[in-house]
Amino acid sequence: MTDSTRAPERILLTGLTGLVGSSVVVALARARRDCSFVCLVRGAGGLSAEQRAQAVIRDECAFEGCPRICDEVLDRVTAVEGDVTSIDVEQLAANPLLKGVQKVLHCAADVNLGKDPTGRVFTVNYEGTRRMVELARRLGVSEFHYVATAYVAGKQAGVIYEQEQHPPAFNNPYEESKCKAEILVRESGIPFTIYRPGIIVGRKSDGRIRKPLAFYRILEFLQKLKERAARRKGVSPDGWVDMDMNCRTVASDHIYFVPIDYVQAAIADLFQRGTAGVTYHVTGDHPVSADQILRAVCRVFRIDGLTIGMDRACKSAEETMFSKFVGDLFPYFSSDLVFDQQNIRRDFAGLAQYDYGSADLEVLTHAYLSDHYRSVGWVRDMLSRAPDRDPRVSA
Ligand SMILES: NC(=O)c1ccc[n+]([C@@H]2O[C@H](COP(=O)([O-])OP(=O)(O)OC[C@H]3O[C@@H](n4cnc5c(N)ncnc54)[C@H](OP(=O)(O)O)[C@@H]3O)[C@@H](O)[C@H]2O)c1
Repeated sequence: MTDSTRAPERILLTGLTGLVGSSVVVALARARRDCSFVCLVRGAGGLSAEQRAQAVIRDECAFEGCPRICDEVLDRVTAVEGDVTSIDVEQLAANPLLKGVQKVLHCAADVNLGKDPTGRVFTVNYEGTRRMVELARRLGVSEFHYVATAYVAGKQAGVIYEQEQHPPAFNNPYEESKCKAEILVRESGIPFTIYRPGIIVGRKSDGRIRKPLAFYRILEFLQKLKERAARRKGVSPDGWVDMDMNCRTVASDHIYFVPIDYVQAAIADLFQRGTAGVTYHVTGDHPVSADQILRAVCRVFRIDGLTIGMDRACKSAEETMFSKFVGDLFPYFSSDLVFDQQNIRRDFAGLAQYDYGSADLEVLTHAYLSDHYRSVGWVRDMLSRAPDRDPRVSA
C-alpha cells in the first residue's frame, strides 16, 4: 500500500527516549509520511518532555546518518509529559493532543535485571502497562502494540513457541514483570501485537549502538578490570593481559544477540501490518555460543585467562567484583532456550537476510570501545593494531 491510499495515522508511543522507541519512531516516520506521534515522556535532568524528545530524535537521526530529515520527523512528534506509573488515565484520555490516536506502541520499561527491593521494576513494567492498556481502552484505539522480551520464557529450557505463555519461574523480577504485563495485553480485549526481542546489541552493519545496555555492562566492566589487572602486573594495558578470571555459570550455545537495526526494521514493518493477536520472536535465528562471545570479546580486548564454567572456585578480587557487578547477566549466558520463528518468518521478510556470528561479535566489541573509550589512550592504541593472535580462553 502507498501512503496515498492509507488514512493518516496518529500513534501514541511510550519509551521514545529509549534505545528501541527512538529507533522505531525514526523508522516509522521515514516509512510513512502520513503518520504522527504523540509521545509520553518524562521530564528529567532539568529538561522538559518536549526538550528530551527533541534531543533524542536529533541524536537518533544523527546516529542513523539522516540528520537532514530530523526537522521533518520532529514536526510529527508531540511530547506529553508523563510517567507511566502515575498517569491519570481519565485526564490524559481527555487531553486534546491524544485526540484521534488509533494505535498505541508501548515500549517504556525499566530494564534493570537485578533485584527489585523497592518494587520499582515491577511497578514500571506491570502497573505502567496496566495504565497504558486502560488509556488505550478509553481512547478506543484499534491496536495495542507491546514490546515485551523473549526472556519472558524465564527458566524454561528447549523450544519456545511465539504464541506460548509461560510458567511462573523466572530469573529476575524484570522477566516476571514483563511476562505478567504481556498477559495483561493479551487479555485486554484490544487487538494486539507483541514483539519479543532478544538481547539487543549494535547494528549488523557496523556494530554501533546509540545507547549501550545489558550486555554492554560486561564490556564496560572488562575495560576497567583489564586496566586494573595490567597495573597490578606492571604491564601495559594495550597489550595482552592474563586476567586469570572465571565467570561462574554454565556456558550456553544459544544466546540470542539481536542487532538493533534488525529489531528496528522488524518492529517498524510488522507494526504497519495491523494486528491480529500475533506474537513475534524478534531474536533472529542465529544464536551465538558463550564460547564465541568469549573468544570474540577477548580477541578485541587482548585478554587471556578468562574462562566460563562451574568447575572453578573463585580466585581473584577481580573475579569477585565481576560477578558482583554483572552476575545478573549470567543467566543469559547459560540459558538453554530456542526461540521458534514461525510467525516472524511468515510475516517479516527481513529474517531471511539476517545472520550473525563471531565476526559480528568482534565488530560490535570494537565499535563499542572506539565509540565510548576514544579518549582513553591505551584503548585507542590497542584498537589501532589488529590482534596478532587468538586469546587463550575457554568456555
Ligand atoms: N535493550 C534490550 O536488550 C531489550 C531486550 C528485550 C526487550 N527489551 C524491551 O524493549 C523495550 C524498550 O527498552 P529499551 O531497550 O529501549 O530500554 P531503554 O533504552 O532503557 O528505554 C526505556 C524507555 O522507557 C522509559 N521509561 C522508563 N520508565 C518509565 C516511566 N516510569 N514512565 C515513562 N517512561 C518510562 C524510559 O524513559 P526515560 O528516558 O525517562 O528513563 C525510556 O524511554 C522495553 O519494553 C524492554 O523491556 C529490551
